[in-house]
Amino acid sequence: MKTTIERVHGRRVWDSRGRPTVEVEVATASGTIGRAIAPAGASTGSAEAVDLRDGGDAFAGYDVRKAVGSVENEIAAALAGMDARDQTSIDRRLIDLDGTANKGRLGGNALIATSMAIAHAAAAAEGVPLWRYLAGDDEPGLLPLPEIQIFGGGAHAGRRVDLQDFMVIATGAGDFATALDWTAEVYIAAGKLMAEAGKLQGVADEGGFWPAFDGNEDALDMLVRAIEKAGFSPGEDVSISLDIAATDFGRDGRYRLAREDRELSSEELSEMLLDWLGRYPIVAIEDPLGEDDDVGMTAFTARAGNQVEVVGDDFVTTNAARITEAASIGACNTALIKPNQIGTLTEARAALDAARAAGWESIVSARSGETEDVTIVHLAIGWGIKQLKVGSFTRSERMVKWNEGLRLADQLSSGGRLPPRSDFPWGR
Ligand code: PGA
Ligand code: ZN
Repeated sequence: MKTTIERVHGRRVWDSRGRPTVEVEVATASGTIGRAIAPAGASTGSAEAVDLRDGGDAFAGYDVRKAVGSVENEIAAALAGMDARDQTSIDRRLIDLDGTANKGRLGGNALIATSMAIAHAAAAAEGVPLWRYLAGDDEPGLLPLPEIQIFGGGAHAGRRVDLQDFMVIATGAGDFATALDWTAEVYIAAGKLMAEAGKLQGVADEGGFWPAFDGNEDALDMLVRAIEKAGFSPGEDVSISLDIAATDFGRDGRYRLAREDRELSSEELSEMLLDWLGRYPIVAIEDPLGEDDDVGMTAFTARAGNQVEVVGDDFVTTNAARITEAASIGACNTALIKPNQIGTLTEARAALDAARAAGWESIVSARSGETEDVTIVHLAIGWGIKQLKVGSFTRSERMVKWNEGLRLADQLSSGGRLPPRSDFPWGR
């Protein structure tokens, strides 16, 4: 059978932070290969699958020789002879083989690179693009709406501002290419405004500007001005989305805003964010409260209203059970889908299905540590996920994803059309 797995090979390559990561190649009897690379988070949730890192002195402990060894030895032996199309059985085998709750024995990095490479291998053996293979019998139609970082902060920018991502969503764009055009204009305008104000310091982990803001609202004001300077109407053409990543500065219901030298209770942080929702054209807000703050998240979601996406990242960690649980207490209304957060494609798909069953929106997302791997763009189209978050609009580990979207737009009969505004909470 042409999709029979003949060989699984692990290789140590490098990510956008200059750290080692795991690449996996899967060869099938067809003579073709599938290849994928594991990304890596920096502001990780505690319930995530954990990467296997070597520790010790080399590369600050980030080396992945053990995880590559997992692929070369146990994983390669276990998968040889299986059918690459049988993603579910293969992922189940990987999970059982690892045998731990957090995938730490073989490594979440080894597992996700293998799981994604399997899908690539099956698609290659069948001679179809990955998005087409993933779509199965569903007719894939539209491109995902981009969510793009303009300013970086939090763990990605030396905590220069407390919040992690100040992003834009081209809520008025009708097609993928236009959404990118508009974002590029906003990015240029933001750079000019920052330079004029003497606040430009370089770029953060995901390529957004590394700002020298005086406070978090300073960043929001600058973003609104950038949207206007670029000639767009804030909230209509281009809107704001935020990743608060509150787990990073909160513990036991107390949140420390270092920039502003204040400590807030869960209620006070909520009030601050709700006030922003009233004053700024914000359409999505991710991890507004910490991963352990169920009560705060439920209260915030109820008050944010149903026109704003309350996105669970660290709060639900691409975990179907956690999404179902969060939905049952009314916490969040949108799931961030990061395949490496859970460790296999099958489980990422289950998370997506759980989100859909709960009536949530979903956003497929890259990590802060990325590579030239474009699997998530194919997932967005193949699985019909309406939004895509891959960081900023600079640096090739980000641009490779946006550019892949442009290529796929040319392959789709819809020609890169985005879901209509009425499909999103802010358009209802
Ligand atoms: P991470 O950041 O990849 O460092 O976790 C991205 C995010 O929090 O959305
Ligand atoms: Zn996040």
